[in-house]
Amino acid sequence: MEQLLVEGGTPLKGRVKVNSAKNASLPIMAAALLTPGDILLEGVPPLDDVKTMLSLLHHLGARTNFNPTTGDMKLTVPNLQDFTAPYELVGKMRASVLVMGPLLSRYGRARISQPGGCAIGLRPIDLHVKGMMALGADIVMGHGYIEARAKKLHGTRIYLDYPSVGATENTMMAAVLAEGTTVLENCAQEPEIVDLANFLSNLGARISGAGTSVIRIHGVEELRGGRHTVIPDRIEAGTYMLAAGITRGEVLLENVIADHLKPVLAKLEEAGVRIEERGDEGLLVSVPGEIRAVDVKTLPYPGFPTDLQPQFMALMATARGSSVITETVFENRFMHVPQLQRMGCNISIEGRSALIKGPASLTGATVKVPDLRAGAALILAGLAAAGSTWIREIHHVDRGYHEIVDKLGGLGARISRIKVGRSLTGTYAAGMRIKKAGENLA
Ligand code: EPZ
Repeated sequence: MEQLLVEGGTPLKGRVKVNSAKNASLPIMAAALLTPGDILLEGVPPLDDVKTMLSLLHHLGARTNFNPTTGDMKLTVPNLQDFTAPYELVGKMRASVLVMGPLLSRYGRARISQPGGCAIGLRPIDLHVKGMMALGADIVMGHGYIEARAKKLHGTRIYLDYPSVGATENTMMAAVLAEGTTVLENCAQEPEIVDLANFLSNLGARISGAGTSVIRIHGVEELRGGRHTVIPDRIEAGTYMLAAGITRGEVLLENVIADHLKPVLAKLEEAGVRIEERGDEGLLVSVPGEIRAVDVKTLPYPGFPTDLQPQFMALMATARGSSVITETVFENRFMHVPQLQRMGCNISIEGRSALIKGPASLTGATVKVPDLRAGAALILAGLAAAGSTWIREIHHVDRGYHEIVDKLGGLGARISRIKVGRSLTGTYAAGMRIKKAGENLA
């Protein structure tokens, strides 16, 4: 197994290029199922989740070709013989459920393994199913699968109980080939929804209102092929901004759309992080003075993104004063707190809010990653801690951050990925003896 070793205390300096967005790439890849035409995507990051979606599309019968170096991806779905998203793949990546809308819309059938919950919450898909049923699909649940059938989907008016990103994407994709017009209300407004809508429009879909709380879709007969460059990843960008902040460094981020990060930039500025827009060059992040504690509440876009809540909490642990971070989107997204406490962070949880008292003097420790964004938070804390931090279960991080070790190393961080084996007498890391079997953890 692999672990990350982070030696803290170095302010990050230099420039880093942000990849294309994981959470735009995944629904856009699923949308390729809607058309027999060739789909050419540019700049898709070779993340583990992208590879899982590729496996699913291939399993369904799509022809896939991906160059992980250039990020160029070609997808062709002439016709399918299989309409099942199997347990193994859905269990690995919940976003696999995004093939349901496209399969139903083009083929009239979909069999999706019910996604289990994950570390951050139960993650139900009742709103996805509600959207499919509203469009006329018959849904049967059984044996851990959702069976959806429809001779033809029919446009209708749907009001989402909650502005769910996935339910908005699935329902929008189902509606593009439906008969008639669909009006989707109280839908998600994230930039990734807009990117998906732009991609679909490029294929001939008729969609308006993406990025607002009401999206209108006029069904069409068939979609053509097309090409698309996926938008930059605002969550990866925010993570590197927070890395610059927590190490009191100075970092230029390239390939960022500042407009997608407004709530994050506002909070960073409030906390004492300076953000300067440098035209086409990107955003320059620096820390002229001390970092101040500020309160944050996560909300659907355009509110503060839940996917940056753990990373922002790490920054607040080093800030002067007390801050309250309230997580309103997921019911269990504080799994990083016990791990941060091991590193000396002063955090207490009251229901959906965490109280962080700072500044804490962080010390390196052995920690375990519970989920993707918690992993990013632990890396950031390691960058600021005195001494060495060993970070385990880093496969979670590889799902959403491409080359994070190289990128942080390029900014001067002392971070390495170490293969750790176990022997009878102890645990050895790349020939370096780190502890005897049974010894207390560092
Ligand atoms: C997307 O997940 C993102 N994933 C998540 O990013 C992100 O945290 C989330 O949106 C919120 O912004 C991808 O885009 C692949 P939701 P999604 O449906 O679509 C409840 C990351 O780290 N809900 O907006 O699953 C749900 O339980 C990941 O990159 C229902 O109750 O999020 C949650 O409490 C983590 N019923 C809330 O809505 C439903 O049918 C938001 O979920 C669907 C959702």
